Amino acid sequence: MEQIGTATLYCGDCRELLAETPRSHALIADPPYGINLAKLTGSSRNKWNMSRRTVEYDFSIVGDDKPFDPAPFLDFQTVVLFGGNHFGSRLPDASSWLVWDKRDGSTSDHQADCELAWTNLRGPARLYSHKWRGMVRAGEENVSRGGVRVHPTQKPVALMYWVIAQCKLPAGTVVFDPFMGSGTTGIAAARHGLPFVGVEIDPTYFDRACDRLRAEQEQTPLFA
Ligand SMILES: C[S@@+](CC[C@H](N)C(=O)[O-])C[C@H]1O[C@@H](n2cnc3c(N)ncnc32)[C@H](O)[C@@H]1O
Repeated sequence: MEQIGTATLYCGDCRELLAETPRSHALIADPPYGINLAKLTGSSRNKWNMSRRTVEYDFSIVGDDKPFDPAPFLDFQTVVLFGGNHFGSRLPDASSWLVWDKRDGSTSDHQADCELAWTNLRGPARLYSHKWRGMVRAGEENVSRGGVRVHPTQKPVALMYWVIAQCKLPAGTVVFDPFMGSGTTGIAAARHGLPFVGVEIDPTYFDRACDRLRAEQEQTPLFA
């Protein structure tokens, strides 16, 4: 366990922590969708020769090789689950889907134009546009470490900041991401001045989340 400001990060299987997690936490997560991304991309590791360096991406994600069961995660007061279109038959009816338009005006290609998050929020569906097409990534999160992407399915901090705003959480609500990957939801929670609990099963991504949250602690005054 790592305590970084108001963020508490666990390395392990979130299902083992679920029973003791208060249902008043806002569960905002981007779980493995069950789409076997590593297979879709041809192999778990891909290399591209760019003009001046070789970029290597590891696309393997724990749990992504089997269907995702959202049932254990649905009884929280607030729930947002990215990838809901991939496991929609196992989700309740809902009106307030959140749509991330990743194309943001550019033309369609082989990648998805948008990602869909199922929520138990009340109200209409909402749309957020933020370009994120392979290497073309808008915003301050356009980063990689030593030529290696921080996480193969890393979300923009700006997107997760918007998602948290859509939830209209009372002050002090704990944002809980049981599939935190590189900790993007935690950074967005910190920028809202909200406490965060994150869980990540893969030690490499857990370490990246810790690094990112520590860096955030240095620049976000709300993140004591
Ligand atoms: C889709 S990724 C999340 C990426 C994240 N949104 C980001 O911006 O970096 C899902 C993450 O859940 C992790 N994971 C899979 N099964 C898990 C489990 N049972 N408990 C905790 N983490 C798990 C995977 O290792 C992966 O990093």
